[in-house]
Amino acid sequence: MIDFILNDTEISTSEPAGTTVLDFVRYHKDLKGTKIGCREGDCGACTVMVGELVGNEVKYRTMTSCLMPLANAAGKHIVTVEGINPQDGSMTPVQQAMVDESGTQCGFCTVGFVMSLTNFCVDETANTPEMAISAVDGNICRCTGYKSIERAAMTICGTMAEPPASAGGVDIAIENGVVPKYFADITSSLKCLIKSPDTTAPASSHPLTRAVPPFVSGGTDLYVQKPEHMAESNATPLLYDEQLRGIRDLGEHIEIGGSATVTDLLVSPVMRSVFPQLNKHLKLVSSTPIRNMATLAGNFVNASPIGDMTVWFLALNAEIDLVGVSAASRHSPQSGEKRTLSLKDLYLGYKQIAKQPDEMITAIRFKKPGDDFRFNFEKVCKRTYLDIATVNTAMSLSVASASADALMITGAHVSAGGVGPIPLYLNETSAFLIGKTVNEETITAANEIMQSEISPISDVRGTEQYKRLLLRQLFRHFACHVVL
Ligand SMILES: Cc1cc2nc3c(=O)[nH]c(=O)nc-3n(C[C@H](O)[C@H](O)[C@H](O)COP(=O)(O)OP(=O)(O)OC[C@H]3O[C@@H](n4cnc5c(N)ncnc54)[C@H](O)[C@@H]3O)c2cc1C
Ligand code: FES
Ligand code: FES
Repeated sequence: MIDFILNDTEISTSEPAGTTVLDFVRYHKDLKGTKIGCREGDCGACTVMVGELVGNEVKYRTMTSCLMPLANAAGKHIVTVEGINPQDGSMTPVQQAMVDESGTQCGFCTVGFVMSLTNFCVDETANTPEMAISAVDGNICRCTGYKSIERAAMTICGTMAEPPASAGGVDIAIENGVVPKYFADITSSLKCLIKSPDTTAPASSHPLTRAVPPFVSGGTDLYVQKPEHMAESNATPLLYDEQLRGIRDLGEHIEIGGSATVTDLLVSPVMRSVFPQLNKHLKLVSSTPIRNMATLAGNFVNASPIGDMTVWFLALNAEIDLVGVSAASRHSPQSGEKRTLSLKDLYLGYKQIAKQPDEMITAIRFKKPGDDFRFNFEKVCKRTYLDIATVNTAMSLSVASASADALMITGAHVSAGGVGPIPLYLNETSAFLIGKTVNEETITAANEIMQSEISPISDVRGTEQYKRLLLRQLFRHFACHVVL
């Protein structure tokens, strides 16, 4: 059974764990407010709020219900628009702002926008107009032209009092009528629910002791690639597995659980302390609801040649822990065995990886950078946000003063995506840079080596020449503007 709270009602269901939350709420609970648009995570029409008990409070995140397996709802508070509608038939301040600012025309996208903006009022995001607008970065509208929706977002921002630093926004959202009063009881309801042994392990026992590969984490690749298969599958859900979560400063290394999402990185004080440009860089990755679901392990295993997080962690020369989880019934010699692999050795060929199907990525580790560390991530797409890369690249350098006005490179890791069949760690370029002074000669020579290591092809995203030029310019930009 899968137990969770849907709006104000406790649910216990034996529907298949692979059923999407979208189909469950619409076809099993007749809650038709949540709309179906693309079913690929792109349009945001199906956005719901997902509340997770963290300590003594419930943290809410938006997710696209079309890609979310029911298994990931276990032990959570799932909120659809029916769960925020006032009982007396009036509108919440978010809904009212959308009406007042003419933020809705045909209305098909409106529920998605309302859920994203409601979540903005409830979560820990700073109450600023920029953040209100960025909360709807995963919602598409074909009618309004967005300006009216932006005005609605700003109106909402103005009506919400600033939440006290210590508390989440739920109490204030209740006070403002943004969410109904029953939200105040959700913390205790989830605590009771989670005591139930079935709640957090919907498929069978703990994933580390059972194996029903493939695994599913956020589902943002799997449900786009094989939705019918996933709906029927008994994939082992990993997104909320406590053993695969967390971002830890281990002193010499930083260790991240395989199920950490892009949002987990964004809000992590550990990551923020190491990467001053974290926000700018990670906002280039998908949209808010997808970042809330997309895990590092999923990105690595999907093995896309343009996987953003893969390219990012290749440039940190990260390593991954793999654990074979075959159950005894599968008679696998690998059951429970752990091995560590350099991320760059995971990729063998297009979508071929050095991982057995029953091995899960449990952790990612990279050396904690010192003060001499310089890092950059670049992604060029046909549009700046909400697009996959034509070329992406990341670079980490350690530098030391060679003289009063010159820097010497003491460590270098360069990666690039979209310029070969796999996400590339540029071995020769990285090795060449070590011991060199950062100057025009080094940049030119490094680029020549870089060009010999890549093999881009011409496709809809750009010609071979264009991709080569892009990588050259991105590298030059990093060397000239970030390092110097
Ligand atoms: C609208 C949209 C926008 C996107 N934008 C971007 C983007 O800008 N940049 C980008 O890089 N990607 C993007 N993606 C792709 C996707 O979101 C990422 O690749 C994401 O990180 C996949 O993680 P997941 O948890 O959702 O993976 P899932 O779909 O759950 O799984 C993907 C694969 O990984 C395996 N897997 C999952 N967890 C583990 C584990 N712990 N151990 C072993 N195997 C595991 C699964 O079995 C599966 O084979 C986008 C996707 C969508 C739908
Ligand atoms: S239906 Fe488009 S994002 Fe889910
Ligand atoms: S109002 Fe029609 S799609 Fe947004």
